[in-house]
Amino acid sequence: MASVVTGGAGYIGSHLIDYLIEKGDDVISIDDYSSGNYTNTRAKNVKLDLRLAYPEIPKGAIIYHLAANPDVRTSMDNIYDHFERDVKTTLNIMEMARKYDAKLVVFFSSSTVYGEGRIPTTEADKIDPISNYGLFKVMGEEILSFYARNYGIRGISLRLANITGGRVSHGVVIDFIKKLKKNKETLEILGNGKQRKSYLYITDLLSALDVLVKYFKGLYDAFNIGNDDWVTVDEIARIVEEEMKLSPKHVYVDAGEGRGWKGDVRFMLLDISKIKSFGWLPKYSSAQAIRLAVRDVLDKI
Ligand SMILES: NC(=O)c1ccc[n+]([C@@H]2O[C@H](COP(=O)([O-])OP(=O)(O)OC[C@H]3O[C@@H](n4cnc5c(N)ncnc54)[C@H](O)[C@@H]3O)[C@@H](O)[C@H]2O)c1
Repeated sequence: MASVVTGGAGYIGSHLIDYLIEKGDDVISIDDYSSGNYTNTRAKNVKLDLRLAYPEIPKGAIIYHLAANPDVRTSMDNIYDHFERDVKTTLNIMEMARKYDAKLVVFFSSSTVYGEGRIPTTEADKIDPISNYGLFKVMGEEILSFYARNYGIRGISLRLANITGGRVSHGVVIDFIKKLKKNKETLEILGNGKQRKSYLYITDLLSALDVLVKYFKGLYDAFNIGNDDWVTVDEIARIVEEEMKLSPKHVYVDAGEGRGWKGDVRFMLLDISKIKSFGWLPKYSSAQAIRLAVRDVLDKI
C-alpha cells in the first residue's frame, strides 16, 4: 500500500511512519522540517513547504495529513502563520488528493474544535472552538467534508485528545520535564492545576488508526479519539515528579479562570463510543499514558 504522511518529521508523524513501514507500506514523508527533525531512512523523504506546493505521489494512496503548527498557545497571537500551516496546507493536500485520486485522506484534527462544551463530548455536540487553533481545525474538517461531497474523495477527521509518548514535541509532559531539568526546586504550572483532560498513549492512537483505515467504509466522517478517563494538571505534575524523584514547590501562573493560557480548554473528555463500535479500545489509561510518556522522554535525555 502506498501511504503519504505529511508532517512526517514531527512527533506523531514519525511514529506513524515507523508503524506503516513495519506494516509493509511504501511510505512518502513530506515535511518542511520547520519544527520536526525525524527521518526514517526507509521512507521516501520529501522536504517541501506544503503552504506553497505539493509533490507528485502515487495514484490511489492513503494520505495522512498531520503537517501543522500544533501549538494552541501561539495560535492566539501568531494567527497568520497558524492559518497558513493549519488551513492552507490542508487545501493543498486535498488538491493533491484530487489530482492523484487518493483512496482516503485522514486529517489530524483536534478535540479543541468543541471548545468547552458538554462532557463527555460526542461527535454530534456543538462545534464551538475558543482558540484560533481550534477554529483552523474546524476549517480543515470542512475542507475535507467539501471534497468528499463534491469530488468523492473519502476522508476521516480525527478529533484527537492529547496524544503523549516518546518524541513528544510540545505539551505538559515535555514542559514539566524541561522545567524540572533546569530547576529541581520549583515547578511552574500554567493555570490553577485543576484543568482536567484526557490523554492517549501514542501506540493506542496507532491501533485506532489501524481499525479506522481497515473498517471505515463511508465517504466522510469525524471520530473522537481519546481515553475513557482524564487527569488533572496537578496529577500530571505528581507523576512527572515521582518518575524524576523530585519534590518541587508548585508555583501557579493563571491566565484567568484557571486557564494555562488564552484559549486553553480547561476540561476535555471525549465520548469515544463511536470509534469503540469499530472494535477499538485504548490499552492504557490517561495516567498510565502520562507515566509511559515521561519514561520514554527521560530514557532519551
Ligand atoms: N500531539 C497532540 O497531542 C495532538 C492533539 C491533537 C491534534 N494533533 C495534531 O496532530 C498533528 C501532528 O501533531 P504533532 O504533535 O506530531 O506536531 P509536530 O509539530 O511534532 O509535527 C508537525 C510537523 O508538521 C511539519 N510542518 C509544519 N508546517 C509545515 C509545512 N508548511 N509544510 C510541511 N511540513 C510542515 C513540522 O515540521 C512538523 O514536523 C498536527 O496536525 C496536530 O495539530 C496533535
